[in-house]
Amino acid sequence: MSETAQLILDGITYNLPIVEGTENEKAIDIAKLRDQTGYVTLDSGFKNTGATKSAITFLDGEKGILKYRGYGIEQLAEKSTFLEVAYLLIYGSLPNQTQIQDFQHQISRHTLVHEDMKKFFDGFPSKSHPMGQLSSLVCSLSAFYPESLDPQATKEEFDLTIIKLLAKMATIVSWIYKKSLGHPVIYPKNKLDYVTNFLNMTFGQRTEEVVIDDVVVDAMNKLLILHADHEQNCSASTVRIVGSSDCNLYASISAGCSALWGPLHGGANQAVIEMLEKIKNDGGDVDKWVNKAKDKNDTFRLMGFGHRVYKNFDPRAKIIKKACDDILEKLGINDPVLDIAKKLEEVALSDPYFVERKLYPNVDFYSGIIYRALGFPTEMFTVLFALGRLPGWIAQWKEMRENGDPIGRPRQIYVGENDREYVDISKR
Ligand code: SDX
Repeated sequence: MSETAQLILDGITYNLPIVEGTENEKAIDIAKLRDQTGYVTLDSGFKNTGATKSAITFLDGEKGILKYRGYGIEQLAEKSTFLEVAYLLIYGSLPNQTQIQDFQHQISRHTLVHEDMKKFFDGFPSKSHPMGQLSSLVCSLSAFYPESLDPQATKEEFDLTIIKLLAKMATIVSWIYKKSLGHPVIYPKNKLDYVTNFLNMTFGQRTEEVVIDDVVVDAMNKLLILHADHEQNCSASTVRIVGSSDCNLYASISAGCSALWGPLHGGANQAVIEMLEKIKNDGGDVDKWVNKAKDKNDTFRLMGFGHRVYKNFDPRAKIIKKACDDILEKLGINDPVLDIAKKLEEVALSDPYFVERKLYPNVDFYSGIIYRALGFPTEMFTVLFALGRLPGWIAQWKEMRENGDPIGRPRQIYVGENDREYVDISKR
């Protein structure tokens, strides 16, 4: 492999360094391009632009490979737990028995949120979208823990902020759900493991002991693992760029929640169910809706289909699709939208429009069906995506700081007006 790329500009040849990663990905390092040539590059949506070097997650879009810190997603989804995967993503290796017990213990000491935060919950209109609440509430944690604002804090102080956020996020998510129902919130029970505690705060009752089904715990662990990180996606890049200004972790993660909310990103899991419901209520004519998705004059898109990186299949979608059948069977649920989803996938994957554009089901296509089977309302789906993605966002933010990445500030090509003279309003 050559060490440099040659660029010939205005008759001058420039040698640009080549960078190769541990999975043989290659990049042209343009860090000095403008200084050397006066030119910048242009790449709307950063489809061809690497923002950083990272050791957290590896994707191969052509082969449908996803690995967290070198471990294949298939083995983690099958054998690990969400808390163990969170530790792996944030600290770089799987924890031993002592480390995972200490991690769980530390988290269990910080699951409560300040009672004054209830005033924020009460301030939201009852039907306000859970993602708007989540983004606000996560940012408000910085008000209760002002020591987290110090960019020069010690490693121990940063680690404590990470523990607090992981612990309190589950409480906040469950309380958002309870408030949406007008039900009293359920406080954390620290003898329960992370996922069971979250499910108990979500589905538990004040008036009676509710036993959380192991099938639900296993399904929730698997879903949270599958959502835990995905390298430099829209929301992770948002977390990194906000954090690159030395902004605190709470506000950086809050910005990530906002980016995830969009229906082209994490909001797609809600949009998929709404789309499937619409097709069902319209008589289930899948061909009609596939044709609408292909029609350039129609704004309708097949939500849960297509991906910026995966141009073969999304390995997460394969795992979730299989889990769908298992979980619905174990819970004895027959959900008609699952049949529509499968028919939609079958028709789309045999249609040249989708095949030519390499559009396959992504992580969001089947996940909503499982969330619904577990008892969650549609508007909570993206909040659950955020709960799963939290350790990935934290790992990306931590790596950005530890690597000393500079503040993110892209360049542009100006295409506006040139010199204009000010004219008094009376003469315009
Ligand atoms: C997530 O980046 C990540 O890693 C994200 C994520 C993560 O874990 O963080 O994986 C989570 O966000 C998954 C994606 C969820 N979003 C959706 O399901 C929304 C529907 N999909 C799309 O809107 C779209 O596919 C994107 C946003 C996912 C990707 O968009 P790109 O890469 O910018 O591709 P594009 O919009 O340029 O589309 C290329 C072509 C276009 O047609 P042409 O102009 O070439 O004729 O494919 C078409 C698009 O019109 N197209 C679709 C389509 N997705 C792309 N046509 C119909 N239905 C679709 N869903």
